[in-house]
Formats: sequence, C-alpha cells, structure tokens
Amino acid sequence: MKKPKRYLITSALPYANGPLHLGHIAGAYLPADIYVRYLKLKDKDVAFICGSDEHGVPITLRARKEGVSPQVIVDKYHKMIKTAFSEFGIDFDIYHRTSSKLHHETASDFFKTMYEKGEFIEKEEEQYYDEKEKQFLADRYITGTCPKCGYEEAYGDQCEKCGTSLSPKELKNPTSRLSGNSPILKKTKHWYLPLDKYQQEWLEEWIDSHKSNWKSNVYGQCKSWLNGGLQPRAVTRDLDWGVPVPVEGYEGKVLYVWFDAPIGYISATKAWAKENNKNWKDYWQSEDSQLIHFIGKDNIVFHCLIFPAMLKAHGNYILPDNVPANEFLNLEGDKLSTSRNWAVWIHEYLHDFPGKQDVLRYTICANLPEQKDNDFTWKDFQNRNNNELVAILGNFINRTIVLTHKHYGGEVPERGTLTDFDKKTLAEMTVIKKNLEKSIESFRFREAVKIAMDLARLGNKYLADTEPWKVIKTDEERVKTIMNISIQISAALSIIIEPFLPFTADKLRKFLNIEKLNWDLAGSDSIIEAGHTINKANLLFDKIEDEAIEKQIQKLMDSKKANQAEQQQAEPAKENITFDDFVKMDIRVGTILEAERVPKTDKLIKLKIDTGIDQRTVVSGIAVDHKPEDIIGKQVSILVNLEPRKIRGIVSQGMILMAEDASGKLVFAVPEVKTSNGASIK
Ligand code: 2FM
Ligand code: ZN
Repeated sequence: MKKPKRYLITSALPYANGPLHLGHIAGAYLPADIYVRYLKLKDKDVAFICGSDEHGVPITLRARKEGVSPQVIVDKYHKMIKTAFSEFGIDFDIYHRTSSKLHHETASDFFKTMYEKGEFIEKEEEQYYDEKEKQFLADRYITGTCPKCGYEEAYGDQCEKCGTSLSPKELKNPTSRLSGNSPILKKTKHWYLPLDKYQQEWLEEWIDSHKSNWKSNVYGQCKSWLNGGLQPRAVTRDLDWGVPVPVEGYEGKVLYVWFDAPIGYISATKAWAKENNKNWKDYWQSEDSQLIHFIGKDNIVFHCLIFPAMLKAHGNYILPDNVPANEFLNLEGDKLSTSRNWAVWIHEYLHDFPGKQDVLRYTICANLPEQKDNDFTWKDFQNRNNNELVAILGNFINRTIVLTHKHYGGEVPERGTLTDFDKKTLAEMTVIKKNLEKSIESFRFREAVKIAMDLARLGNKYLADTEPWKVIKTDEERVKTIMNISIQISAALSIIIEPFLPFTADKLRKFLNIEKLNWDLAGSDSIIEAGHTINKANLLFDKIEDEAIEKQIQKLMDSKKANQAEQQQAEPAKENITFDDFVKMDIRVGTILEAERVPKTDKLIKLKIDTGIDQRTVVSGIAVDHKPEDIIGKQVSILVNLEPRKIRGIVSQGMILMAEDASGKLVFAVPEVKTSNGASIK
C-alpha cells in the first residue's frame, strides 16, 4: 500500500452493560491510544473512533433482572464508560453510541443496500421458542450442556468453558433463561450472510494476502475458521431491542448485534465528521485511507472475516489494513471475570490512585498480552512505579531541572565544544527514536515502552558519567554543555513518552516551559535553545508504599472469599431428631452486658450475658469478626442449658448462636426486633 493520507483507527465498542476493567484497556484501548497519539505527534490526519455497543442480549437480560428498560441500563453504563475512558487518557476523537438515531439510520441503510443487492439468503428454520414468555430465544437467551466438554451453563452461541462456538440446537438440555423452562422448536424466518460463498470468491485469498503483515495469532485464528469452512450466518434476530429489520414482513425482528455493532464505527465517524467539518467518506471510502481495528482476541472472527465480508458485499468501503488483536490479560494468575469480581475496575483505580493514570498505563503497556496471555500483578505495578518511573525517569528529570536551576537560575546554558561522549550520546538519541518508530509501527508496544525508557536510562548514564556536580568545582564551562545536553534529552523525552504516559508528558512540558512538540524533533540534537527559561519542578512520580498495594490485594482476596462462599453448597442436613430431642434445648434471648478478649487467644471473647434468668459468663469464638467494644448491649440467642464447660480456665455457661455469612464472617442469629431477655426461642 502507498503511504496513506488518512488513518481511521477504531477500538472495539464495549458493551454498555458494566464498567471498564483492566482487561478491556489491555485489549483494545491502550494500544490504540498509544498508536493514535504517535500518529498525531507526526501530524497525521487521524480519526480515532469508539462508542458504546448498546444492543445485544446481555443488555436486555440485565434490564429484565433489574426491572428497568434496556435504555436505562445503556444510559447508565455509556456515561460511566465514557467518563472512565476520558479520565484514563484514552483520547478518542468521538465516543458515540449505537442506540443513537444516526446509528439506527446508518445500520438500517447498510442492511437495505445489501438486501437490495441480493446479498442475503432468506431461510425458514426451526428455532427455540419460550411458550411461557411467548418469545423466540436468541442464542444468549438459552443455556444448556456443552456437547464438547459437558459444561452445564454453556450459552446458545458459545461455551465459555471450552471456547467452542455453538448453535442453540447443539446444546443438550436447553433451558430458557427467561422462564427457566425447556423451550420448544418453532418455525421462524431470518436473513443469512453467505460467508461460505465469500470464502470461495475472495475472503480466503484476502486473508492469505495478509499473512506477512498481520500478527501470527490473528492470522492463525482466521485460518483456523477458514479451514473449518465458513457457514452462512444469520444477521437478524427475533428480539425487540436493537435496530429493526427494515424489510416489510419482518416486524418484531432486529439486526443481529454483531451486524449492527461494527457499523457503529461508520455511524460514529459520520457524527465526528459532521462536528468537525470533515467528510466521513474520505476515511471509509477512499483508497488513500488506512483502516486499523484494535480489538481483543474474542473479536477476531467478527473483524477479520464477518465485517470485511459485509463491507465488501455492501460495496464502496475500504477493508481493514490490519487488526492487531491482543490476547487476554490475567490478574494475579487468574482469568479476569466480571461475575466473580476478579478485576481491577478503572473507575475504582482512578478513585484509589488519583493522578496516577500513567502508572497503570505504564504497567499495562509493559505487560501487554501481545503474543500470548499475560499477567498483571499489584506487586509488579508497585515495582514498575518505584524502580522504573521514580528511579529512572523521575530521577533523571529531577536532577536535570534541579541542577539547571541551581547553577543557571533555570536558564538553559549555551553549549561549548562537544566531546566524543557528548556526540555519542546525542547520536544514541536518534537511534532510540528510530527504534521506537519501528516498534510502534509494527504494533509492538511492550518493546516500544521499554525503548522509550531507554532514553531516560541514557540520560541517567550521561549524568552519572559526566558528573556535573563534581565538575562544577573545576570546569564551569564544561557543566554548561552537560546541562544543555541533559535538557535536550529531557525535551526529547517529553515527546517520546507522550503516547505511553500522556499525563507525565504534560507535566514535563510544564516543567520545561514548552508546548507540545512534533515527533520528528525527538531526533534533533537541539530541541530547546540556549537562553530559554525552564520552570521550577516538583517530582514527576512518587513512591507507592506497601500499604496501598496490600489494600488492593485485600480487595481481591475479599472477592475470592465472597465467591467461594457463594459457590459453597449448603451442608447436607444432619440426621433427624425427635420433637422431644428438640424441646430439650432451652434457647433464650439475652443481652451482652460485658465483653473482653480472652488473653493469648485469637478467637475468644469472654461475655457476661443477661439471660433473663441470671447473669452468666459465656466464652465465644467470635473475636476474628467482632470487637468486644462493638457488641456490648447487643441482643443474642443463647442456648442456656448446655452443660457448663471450662475454656481456657473460664467456666462457660451456654452458647451464643451464630451464622456464617457469604464471606465466611460470623454474624449473630438474633430476634428480628428487640425482645425481652429470657424470652424462649421455639
Ligand atoms: O466484545 C465486545 O465487547 C463487543 N461489544 C465488541 C464490539 S466491536 C464492534 F464491532 F463494534
Ligand atoms: Zn464446552
């Protein structure tokens, strides 16, 4: 391809049915944002497109569960996701939404054009139908047993356990997620996209033509789909939430969410173009525009096979030049999971670590799952901050700025004759810039961020080897050159860290008292002129202490505990007892009068309880979950006729009744309302 005149960069549209987490960012958003910031620093004409994917069954199911309309759900999450992206520095040119009028019109017209061209096949088929709810069941509305691995909660389109792509009829014991009943089969009509035909005509050849420039994980997955033989795919569904099928006789049907969602890239571009006085067709329908989709690996088939097939069948559109999909990012050795709350939620991170967006951006970037799944750990996050951002980048900038102020009142000194070492250092800057370009342009962002830090390493080495703090005593002229060169390295850093650490780059520009500079200047050996005055600075980064990390790890441990408790089956019932056995137990309402820890134990509290009959001592193993001072005055249920027992030398007269809550914490089994002490519990 010739050098493109325009770039159309898209990031997968996230479903508006939950907040953003680390895995989203690592898959489709941070890499795209780095790439776009780089192109923009090079003054390229770029449109960076994203928005919320607001249709689909998970949204309607959630709305049903919460007893609200799907629009309420998508409004809530669209706003939340949009804010999180913006605060995290993912700088889309537009963040649109698929429930908008413009999108509905665009998707509807797209379908109509394909329909009128005769691109679809109409098929009447038997599909599962929920008789109680009087509704056909789209694939996600059905669960059943996976025919491949036996997992009992597989969805009608995919088994999340073994990853097999399924159709509802392949499931054993299908169950409707709406009523919980077994669905029946009933005839319905749908439109299909003949992917088998496209495979033969051009699709396979087109994929093959990308063997050398697409990532091997992406190309490999496409080939595996093609080798299995593509099948016609239904592009309509029997649902009432989505883009209505614009054909008479198809009332009550909508476009399949994976048909309308990628068209969302087009409608978002239209909205952006309108607001910015551009022509959307220059980006979508002109051969000198380059289209790149950033996605996670679960979206490969849709972006590499199905959407290109739609674009080509419609006609007039360019096809993606590249689809640099990432694998998955795990968290602390375990798969990220929304339902198990095993995630780092971006809005929570922004709250817990204000002003530290770049630390997370940096850690994610350094661990991007580019070739295979990778792991994020909080310990690594802390180490990357303390040992790299603080100790390498922050340290170099701080020393340069402090010394320039100390010796020259902040005015960049004139440089004198350059030594060989100076020249070598300046030449190294250019090499770093070139290597960085190569890595970014080949979507190798992990490598790229390491190269960017190499420039800070170079700066530190330069200062360590030239020792201006010592030389100042013997050769003042030489120090002027050293500081001038250190300032040039700092200025180059302000450019090349911008794609990865935009908030830090902004801070650094303020320290250096400069505007945003063009990428190509990063290779120049005099970016800032002598005589320019820089500002006083504070630290670029500060240390992250163990306490902050432990808090995050504890949060995850709490999720794990809550999950385990939830999954724990209730214990089977004990052997039957007679009524006479039961009435033997004398359980009363009592009130805690005094409470104190039993010394040298972790679990025991000595209680004085008013049982209504008497005031007595009971030793109870509740100290892990309750503090003595918090429970004085509390009503409890107490078994009063339990044989007294000596515990740690104290005679315990009875037992308090407790239950375990979902997280394993002991909670008091108490009467619903305040009751008089001594009342019997029967
Ligand atoms: O997997 C997902 O989260 C989808 N909502 C991605 C859609 S990408 C595009 F096609 F819109
Ligand atoms: Zn399975």
